[in-house]
Amino acid sequence: MPSPAQTEAIPSNPVQYARQGRVGVITVDYPPVNAVGHGVRSGLVAALEAGLADAEAEALLLVCAGRTFMAGADIREFGKPSAPPTLPEVVARLDASTKPVIAAIHGTALGGGLEVALACHLRVALKSAKLGLPEVKLGLLPGAGGTQRLPRLVGAAKALDMILSGDPVGGEEALTIGLVDAVEDDVSPLEAGLRTADRLLADGRMPEPVSARTDRIAGTDPALFTAKRAELAKRQPQLFSPHRIVDAVEAAVTLPFAEGTARERELFLACMDSPQRAGLIHAFFAEREVAKVPGLPAGTPTREIRKVGVIGAGTMGGGIAMCFANAGIPVVLVDSAQEALDRGTAAIRRNYEATARKGRLTAAQVEERMALIRPTLSYGDLADADLVVEAAFESMEVKRTIFRTLDDTCKPGAILATNTSTLDVDAIAAATGRPQDVLGMHFFSPANVMRLLEVVRGARTSDTVLATVMGLARRIGKVGVAVGVCYGFVGNRILHQRGRESMALVEEGASPEQVDRVLTEFGFPLGHFSMTDLAGIDVGWRIREERRKAGDPEAQAPNWLDVLAERGRYGQKTSAGVYRYEPGSRTPIPDPEVAAVIEEDRRNRGIAPRAVSDEEVRERCLYVMVNEAAKILEEGIAARPVDIDAIWLHGYGFPSWRGGLLFWADREGLGKIAASVQRYHRDIGGPQWRPSALLLQRAADGQPIGC
Ligand code: 3HC
Repeated sequence: MPSPAQTEAIPSNPVQYARQGRVGVITVDYPPVNAVGHGVRSGLVAALEAGLADAEAEALLLVCAGRTFMAGADIREFGKPSAPPTLPEVVARLDASTKPVIAAIHGTALGGGLEVALACHLRVALKSAKLGLPEVKLGLLPGAGGTQRLPRLVGAAKALDMILSGDPVGGEEALTIGLVDAVEDDVSPLEAGLRTADRLLADGRMPEPVSARTDRIAGTDPALFTAKRAELAKRQPQLFSPHRIVDAVEAAVTLPFAEGTARERELFLACMDSPQRAGLIHAFFAEREVAKVPGLPAGTPTREIRKVGVIGAGTMGGGIAMCFANAGIPVVLVDSAQEALDRGTAAIRRNYEATARKGRLTAAQVEERMALIRPTLSYGDLADADLVVEAAFESMEVKRTIFRTLDDTCKPGAILATNTSTLDVDAIAAATGRPQDVLGMHFFSPANVMRLLEVVRGARTSDTVLATVMGLARRIGKVGVAVGVCYGFVGNRILHQRGRESMALVEEGASPEQVDRVLTEFGFPLGHFSMTDLAGIDVGWRIREERRKAGDPEAQAPNWLDVLAERGRYGQKTSAGVYRYEPGSRTPIPDPEVAAVIEEDRRNRGIAPRAVSDEEVRERCLYVMVNEAAKILEEGIAARPVDIDAIWLHGYGFPSWRGGLLFWADREGLGKIAASVQRYHRDIGGPQWRPSALLLQRAADGQPIGC
């Protein structure tokens, strides 16, 4: 008969010890994600000692309360001196335990959390659990034995894949690869752990600690590491931690456990000191911080979104429809012509089928998602939609007409959103009798892939509508960032200045290839002109035409890009734009025809080309962005620097290891940037170089502009 539960609560401790029969249960309860901070670490040591001292406990069970197992070391402690016991000390204690310790895993066992589980003698996971070592995404490597123990359980090749990608595996896969010893379904983690404990106690044997196992790493082919190093040198030459991860896993197979662990520690500390770690951790918190909109109280009421309408079955509208269908939300897709609808739905299907071919969707899931998207020619089908996103042609006239129709058609309380990338959301809202329900939802192309969603708050948008759409952004897996109304909002306004400067550099003598190379060397996945080709030159050309027609004094005169568009060179979609493309390939190839167009443009403008240095390209492309970002802050279009950082990280491929545009600007040196902006203002002129007062002030005060 098991003895009644006995509790030895450790006061104000996030870790509790209580015995259930023959099993001592250690419970971590540290919301929201049971991060292994100092309190949890000391609590774990104390609870382990209590369990070892408890004569009636024959096995110990480590389990977590709340929504998840431990989701990693406490990231907020990084960069500060680590108070003992350190995580490596905690896992060493678990490893050395004279009683078997079982980890029962639910939710997400990540990073230091999984490392704690790896130091236990047995692991049981719920089927729904996710297990991974995502440290690489923070510029780190697993620093509490993960690089040494994981290979001992799953082999070096699989361990390298998991640690280098940082992607978790599910419960069932964890069982297949040997990461866990059992999986359970439809039970609590405590129950799952107690079942494993029963089996262990019935068996009566003490399992070997993972650190002592060598069967899965014996005979590892050293060529594995050579191949990984070559792959990384090609794919991620700028990143610091992946290369150290290969070194650490190699140490697991070439050195005894204690020496391998010491090597891991050394490499972990080098990563911890790297500026990339600081940048990536800033990016991690930025993604979460933007959800908390200043001035929008946390409990603001929201509306339910059960059905969505999308207007326009083009590339953008189709991608937006997919975003909702992917989240299980039914979509009515409206277009004015049957042919456009057919083309749009066929493109959506092709897109899903391509994903299925890559193994990321099953055939049944493709059909489920397609069934959620209902194409129609009738606005009447939007009558019961809770939200309508308009993704029609970028013209104020067209959009205002659509919004008038929506105002007449949609039920009261329906949210009306425009996906405009440049037009005045307030002017669009004014076409309706319900401007409080109107806002911008600016998706980024391809809408079903890019994570950014600029949520454009109009002058009269209500708090409820803003809060609803911010919540919806998260539900559909987007990073929603609230911004104000201005031309291009935040992202495109900054991009516009970089584009203007990139064009100017080419006019003065740089080649598009040079500009793109400097930007990719900085860490952007694409250079400015490759990105233009991807987005389609015709998009910018039409916007410029619209502005010129409207007599906008800021509108630029037609340029060599417009000449390319007039010749039908729209970019990748026509296999020719700023570059040319071989059929089926996305690799940009410089094209003499374009060089000739550029030369002619220079001649027409009377410009004698000069050699432009890479440093000048770098400064002019990046500093002009910082200057514009500072103006955006001054004007309150973005509430905080972190909003701008998140926008460029998630919408434009700003390298996450540099933290974000303004985080990077502080590290580049605001004094240097401000001095260059003033110099370019003097030498080149133009509104883009008019120095931001905020930038000059912060530089003069020696204060950061980021956070
Ligand atoms: N440390 C500190 N805070 C953390 C944290 C961590 N490891 N993980 C999450 N949080 C915080 C978030 O900042 C957020 O705080 P907020 O509410 O104040 O904004 C809160 O917990 C909830 O997080 P999410 O909004 O992200 O919640 P989700 O449910 O969407 O996701 C999660 C949960 C999957 C656990 C996700 O938060 C996540 O991926 N966390 C990071 C996991 C990770 O990278 N772990 C490795 C850390 S490095 C390490 O362990 C080093 C070791 O090897 C020595």
